[in-house]
Amino acid sequence: MGHDIIFVGRDRKKLDLIQSGKSPIYEPGLEDLLTKNRKKISVTTDLQDAVVNSEITFICVGTPPKKDGSSDLSQVKEVSRSIGKSLQSLDRFHVIVTKSTVIPGTNETVIIPLLEKESGKKAFVDFGIASNPEFLKEGTAVDDFFHTDRVVIGTHDPKTREVLESLYRPLHAPIFSTTLQTSEMIKYASNAFLATKISFANEIGNICKVQGIDSYEVFKGVGLDARISPHFFRSGIGFGGSCFPKDVKALIAYADSKGIPSRILSSVMALNEDQPGRMITLLKKHINPKGKTIGILGLAFKPDTDDIRESRAIPIIRHLRKAGASVIAYDPMAMDNFRKVLPDISYAGSAAEILASDAVLIVTEWKEFEDLDYHGKIVIDGRRFEKARREAAVYEGVCW
Ligand code: UDX
Repeated sequence: MGHDIIFVGRDRKKLDLIQSGKSPIYEPGLEDLLTKNRKKISVTTDLQDAVVNSEITFICVGTPPKKDGSSDLSQVKEVSRSIGKSLQSLDRFHVIVTKSTVIPGTNETVIIPLLEKESGKKAFVDFGIASNPEFLKEGTAVDDFFHTDRVVIGTHDPKTREVLESLYRPLHAPIFSTTLQTSEMIKYASNAFLATKISFANEIGNICKVQGIDSYEVFKGVGLDARISPHFFRSGIGFGGSCFPKDVKALIAYADSKGIPSRILSSVMALNEDQPGRMITLLKKHINPKGKTIGILGLAFKPDTDDIRESRAIPIIRHLRKAGASVIAYDPMAMDNFRKVLPDISYAGSAAEILASDAVLIVTEWKEFEDLDYHGKIVIDGRRFEKARREAAVYEGVCW
């Protein structure tokens, strides 16, 4: 879009990678962007230097879940204090944008007070603040960014809004302007709705399975209704990743703190926790896993990423080990990350090696698994892999 970017971080290794045009995570298209724009990108560990030399600061730090499900705001607080201090010496209007996912009210009750206290300045007079949630999916994040359905800008300040609208103008995307709190809530409601849609598809899928109905056909028919839309109806072993589980739990904790029982959201999570176990039940219909070697195809929480946070592979492998099985796993990108969580399973050198196991579980739908020959195999499929469905000697889909 032509803007100059300064990356601020603490991890010098990551910063150096970014500066040299390399992405510290696997995300299709990201490295191309970093390489193409090397002249427009700089990196620093000095936050103040970045703030005084820019017009807009994005807060992008993590808001990880605490034990009770609520989100840990310590990084947001720390960075707000540092930005506040950095604003002291600035004599022009600067806009701070919260990209991190935060519970409604956080900008007004946590971030603004810290910025004002540390800077000695006044929000919306000396500096602007806005909430601007992201809706990117891992694996397609670059494309999602450039072809977004909407940009949400939450601020009541016209000057701040104008800065952000002009920042995003080159995208030609619909802009939805609203208040800080509403914008914060839009992020949670969007993720909670998508997670609900998946759990709903899984519940219907579980019913379909016992009746011998193909839930993918069902949702094709259902999704044709324009009021419903066909997206996010892929039934199977449920959702993982860094957003859905964390955000739904945080919303439940937030509702709880307001005295609102979250009946739908609690069921969404409960159903999601149960789905991986269904895979093991189906496996046991065909083979007793005790003493057998079970192969796992896919460890990432979805294809085209090396991210394994909340991956369904984790509970599935734990179930298998409890049942006395040996586990061998393969993933094209996520094995290094997975080894840190479960170091004591076997890791295969190729996907083909997995097929030598006594039975195969498909956990992540990587495209390269289409090249495998499933003839004569026992396959339990959590992600609807058509080739395995056609070829396997014994085939069970979780919801079809
Ligand atoms: C999600 C949101 O889609 C995105 O808007 C938000 O910004 C971050 O969280 P992400 O977690 O990267 O993105 O991936 P997504 O494609 O949404 O998948 C999340 C999980 O749901 C994956 O484990 C995926 O396998 C599962 N899923 C997705 C299904 O089980 N069925 C579906 O129909 C869609």
